[in-house]
Amino acid sequence: MDMLHISDLHKRFGDREVLRGLNLSVPEHSIYGFIGKNGSGKTTTMKTVLGLLKGDSGKITVNGERVVYGQTATNRLIGYLPDVPEFYSFMTASEFLRFCGEITGMKRKESETRIEELLSLVGLGCEPHRIKGFSRGMKQRLGIAQALLNRPKLLICDEPTSALDPVGRKEILDILLAVREQTTVLFSTHVLSDVERICTDVAFLKDGVTDMQGRLSEIKTKYRGKDYRLETETDSELRLITQAFPHVTIGEGNRATFCESDYTVSDVLHFVADRGIGILKIERLEPTLEDLFMEVTGR
Ligand SMILES: Nc1ncnc2c1ncn2[C@@H]1O[C@H](COP(=O)(O)OP(=O)(O)OP(=O)(O)O)[C@@H](O)[C@H]1O
Ligand SMILES: [Mg+2]
Repeated sequence: MDMLHISDLHKRFGDREVLRGLNLSVPEHSIYGFIGKNGSGKTTTMKTVLGLLKGDSGKITVNGERVVYGQTATNRLIGYLPDVPEFYSFMTASEFLRFCGEITGMKRKESETRIEELLSLVGLGCEPHRIKGFSRGMKQRLGIAQALLNRPKLLICDEPTSALDPVGRKEILDILLAVREQTTVLFSTHVLSDVERICTDVAFLKDGVTDMQGRLSEIKTKYRGKDYRLETETDSELRLITQAFPHVTIGEGNRATFCESDYTVSDVLHFVADRGIGILKIERLEPTLEDLFMEVTGR
């Protein structure tokens, strides 16, 4: 069953229809990358899932339960890290989580164990300072700990890595990877390399609908091109190939690429075998997310 299912969601602000029949299926225990440019409607979608915004039409279910605007029953299943998380900056990380535990009705003993577990997960276990001295990355990590406090079935993070440097981004991505066993992760982003690193599933949001969505591996297979890359043991062997097949493009090292529309793989391999050329690798190239994104955005 899908942990989150959205069907035909419409949302209009004034005369601008931001969501125009959006469909989204987020499988349980996936790490789902929700990709879209600035202003494409990522935050709007997430706030509608949280019942904080009212969709004009459409249906949303979380773990099979219908989301109803203004009623937050399904939010007991969701942990949410907003795009700009707010904290009481005079508190320490553990004080803040303890406070969150109290207001959400957690039992003291249970919350103490959970807080210790979470602070260690997000690397803030030995952090004595008040939140006001935290870096952006530390705040995002604390925000994830807060969102995970009540063991949600669905963790929604709105652009958790966008404002961070590469080290901070890696820390967040590692945490999201680590919690996959316990929950389902939906995160929005426009940083494609982050998606490529950890996501099992993706959806591209464009013009108010998801243009391409599903298992990342399946999408890549579907949009696989006709380019191959080969690598020889020596550069003289590579030269033999490029002399025989002039449309082969030389790359870095002893690598070169060719397109199946120029030469068939079997022609190239026969040539290689006849000459006894040492091949280290030959592979069909998968499209990068960047390629897929360009395909979707039509640029
Ligand atoms: N409360 C609102 N009133 C009017 N327009 C709004 C409101 N909230 C969002 N919008 C508009 O809806 C569109 C989508 O906004 P949204 O914040 O969902 O995009 P986003 O994909 O999250 O963008 P970003 O990457 O910048 O966070 C934008 O054009 C925005 O200006
Ligand atoms: Mg946003």
